[in-house]
Amino acid sequence: MKNINLSIEIGKLKLKNPVLVCSGTFGYAEEFVDFIDLKKLGAIVTKTITLKPRIGNLPPRTCETPAGMLNSIGLENPGLEVFIKEKLPFLKKLGVPIILSIASEEEPQEFIELVTRLDKIEEVAAIELNISCPNVKGRKHLISQDPLATKEIVSEIREITKKTLITKLSPNVTSIVEIAQAAQDGGSDAVSLINTLSGMSIDVDKRIPKIASISAGLSGPAIRPVAVKMVWDTFNKIKIPIIGMGGIMDAASALEFIIAGASAVAIGTANFINPKVSEEIILGLKEYLERNKISNIKELVGSLKV
Ligand SMILES: Cc1cc2nc3c(=O)[nH]c(=O)nc-3n(C[C@H](O)[C@H](O)[C@H](O)COP(=O)(O)O)c2cc1C
Repeated sequence: MKNINLSIEIGKLKLKNPVLVCSGTFGYAEEFVDFIDLKKLGAIVTKTITLKPRIGNLPPRTCETPAGMLNSIGLENPGLEVFIKEKLPFLKKLGVPIILSIASEEEPQEFIELVTRLDKIEEVAAIELNISCPNVKGRKHLISQDPLATKEIVSEIREITKKTLITKLSPNVTSIVEIAQAAQDGGSDAVSLINTLSGMSIDVDKRIPKIASISAGLSGPAIRPVAVKMVWDTFNKIKIPIIGMGGIMDAASALEFIIAGASAVAIGTANFINPKVSEEIILGLKEYLERNKISNIKELVGSLKV
């Protein structure tokens, strides 16, 4: 089969293929330029930025776990001004849709200010609202742990931008479906599932936590079955597209998400092991479609046989 169509739509975004990279695992893309042909990616999701710079949490901030890793970076980022001055010029030249991930220390004001500024930047193709970072101190609950708060913040932001809005959700909830519905009701164009799962790891000899902030976010293959189920549960209950992520390591694991209902997938922790992995996954998806005589990737979305 020659004419394999991998293109998909997320809100107003038209992507040439459904393979993205996860926020926080790909920096601002410049770090990966020597390893991968960035132009081949469906889109790049940048490390979450906040209005002001953040130094993040104290080290140690990462450790390995069985089939995964814990991280508590604490949203270290240079802030909006430095991002615009130093990171955006490189991203602008890439010719790949840029999805900018943002978070707020003081919502809704900070979100409003960030989005108002970003709305004017043509090369920002879409905005991902990170309302699900588990690594920020002083917060009792995440916005994405409360359906009302989720709907409220998304609708306030919806009013000030026509750009594609993606809401990134936390798996650390009783029902992610309820939160996804709230994001949809607020006017989100898509949801990203999932951010990291809450976890901790202990050095038994020293009897200290392996991560300074004690609790951290678990990612990697260990969380994949949880993430796939959340995509499947949500796919049947919302109309907007899902970007699936959590432990994708290869084409087969990306396909699990697509068959469960994800219109696109994002690669996170795997980038640290093999920076070329996204490119290999794009190729693997094409080969799978060819082998199965499917001409359009959209036919696979949610095609799970039950
Ligand atoms: C080191 C690290 C940093 C991360 N930073 C962010 C971030 O800044 N914003 C965000 O939305 N998610 C962040 N995440 C979560 C990932 O984007 C992704 O949702 C999660 O890791 C699950 O995918 P994976 O198992 O493929 O890594 C981070 C994950 C890791 C491992």
